Amino acid sequence: MKNIILTGDRPTGRLHIGHYAGSLKRRVELQNSNKFDQIFIMIADAQALTDNFDNPAKVRSNITQVALDYLAAGIDPLKTTIFIQSQIPELTELTFYYMNLVTVSRLQRNPTVKSEIEMRKFEKSIPAGFLCYPISQAADITAFKATTVPVGEDQMPMIEQTREIVRRFNSVYKPVLTEPNALLPENDACMRLPGTDGKAKMSKSLGNCIYLSDEAEEVKEKIMNMYTDPSHILVSDPGHIEGNTVFTYLDAFCTDCHFEEFLPEYNNLDELKAHYQKGGLGDVKIKRFLNNVIEEELRPIREKRKELEKNPEIIYELLKKGSLCARKTACETLDEVKRAMQIDYFAEGRTSF
Ligand code: TRP
Repeated sequence: MKNIILTGDRPTGRLHIGHYAGSLKRRVELQNSNKFDQIFIMIADAQALTDNFDNPAKVRSNITQVALDYLAAGIDPLKTTIFIQSQIPELTELTFYYMNLVTVSRLQRNPTVKSEIEMRKFEKSIPAGFLCYPISQAADITAFKATTVPVGEDQMPMIEQTREIVRRFNSVYKPVLTEPNALLPENDACMRLPGTDGKAKMSKSLGNCIYLSDEAEEVKEKIMNMYTDPSHILVSDPGHIEGNTVFTYLDAFCTDCHFEEFLPEYNNLDELKAHYQKGGLGDVKIKRFLNNVIEEELRPIREKRKELEKNPEIIYELLKKGSLCARKTACETLDEVKRAMQIDYFAEGRTSF
């Protein structure tokens, strides 16, 4: 069996460091591991419209932003097919057939959908399209026969829902579809990177994100204002590292080499944590260190992004080519699906009903 990756993001804003730590960095590593036969990354504009249908301009303009973030972070279009969801109508067709295999109550029980319904105050009147987006996500994944879906933890219920649809399809019709596995970040801090204000979720509306495209000064300002330990008032006070955003970010990004380079009086993060807990280590010092660590990670991304921004027509061509290529694969799967469902009336060799 081939090893195939499919993953994606909604184009509702530029990508931030949470996307990067939670999934994008890993995707680049997987891409460069050469262990996969095919890799698809999808810009999920149709899914973004399920809760932004009244703001198409936002979705449209963020397609290029997300593509720029991908390329700047190291996604290589020679190894990975980047495409736009809405340009593959076969995905919508698959969604419609899969809808028969899922109940409304199962969708309402999906934990991610449930919390999004609350967040968007959809409780009284849920748009049908929104409720069904996990089905469309199953179509995205299965159209490419993906075996591996590298995502953040919040996407686990979508993968589970996809697996259920695959099992049901394969048992009702024919074993055509592949059950995917989620691939989560190995590092706990990467999986749940909080906002700079310490709040659990990074979100544009909370203004607590560090974007991959932020200038160095903006990043520094955000880090210097980062939430730490409110009870750590004097440098001499013992500090807490649990729930301390600076340490969570260090857990996600720093290596022993960073200490050698920027903070040689410590050998590693454990030593720094121990000193902070004992007292005598100020927040400014750990924030400056974090800024150096993050800057080392973001500088090359930012520079590459600036280069790419100069030629938007290259991005456009690349997405067009990627979408054509992805469509071919989705068409093949849809053909198999229709054959399995006995709705391939005019296919070659099928001359009777
Ligand atoms: N739901 C994902 C997100 O919000 C985006 C997405 C759409 C996706 N289809 C997908 C992710 C298929 C992985 C696989 O980020």
